[in-house]
Amino acid sequence: MSLCVKKYNGYKAKIRPSGHDISDKFQKDNQGAIPPNLLEIANTESNSAYLRSCKAAEIRPHSAHFPQGFAEFFIKFLTDEGDMILNPFAGSNTSGFVAQTLQRRWIYFEINEDYVIGSRYRFT
Ligand SMILES: C[S@@+](CC[C@H](N)C(=O)[O-])C[C@H]1O[C@@H](n2cnc3c(N)ncnc32)[C@H](O)[C@@H]1O
Repeated sequence: MSLCVKKYNGYKAKIRPSGHDISDKFQKDNQGAIPPNLLEIANTESNSAYLRSCKAAEIRPHSAHFPQGFAEFFIKFLTDEGDMILNPFAGSNTSGFVAQTLQRRWIYFEINEDYVIGSRYRFT
């Protein structure tokens, strides 16, 4: 799985309307020491195993599942292997699937039973 994150160099060197002098140092590439403040992650899961499996089982897939790259960015950024990740509103459990792929443990809560059933297909 690859992470598709595009760095956003949003500050041009100039005097801002506030009067602050933004120098060209704000455009320096710090090799990822500071994460970008804009994540551009393609949602390429329109034909994922999860969606195909839900369709085959005639289960409604989650309508707002987020891209795996989104979960991957924050899990890698904020946790280490073996850590526990809890998602209290987990939907189709994108976060749990990515956590497991990255050797993290996970706990999942979801109020909608259909989504819980569908989420199992992420692991088959
Ligand atoms: C935006 S969706 C999460 C989607 C998830 N990130 C994914 O990739 O599939 C939020 C979820 O929270 C669930 N939810 C809302 N209230 C809840 C509650 N009180 N307890 C557990 N889940 C809840 C909804 O059913 C919904 O599936």
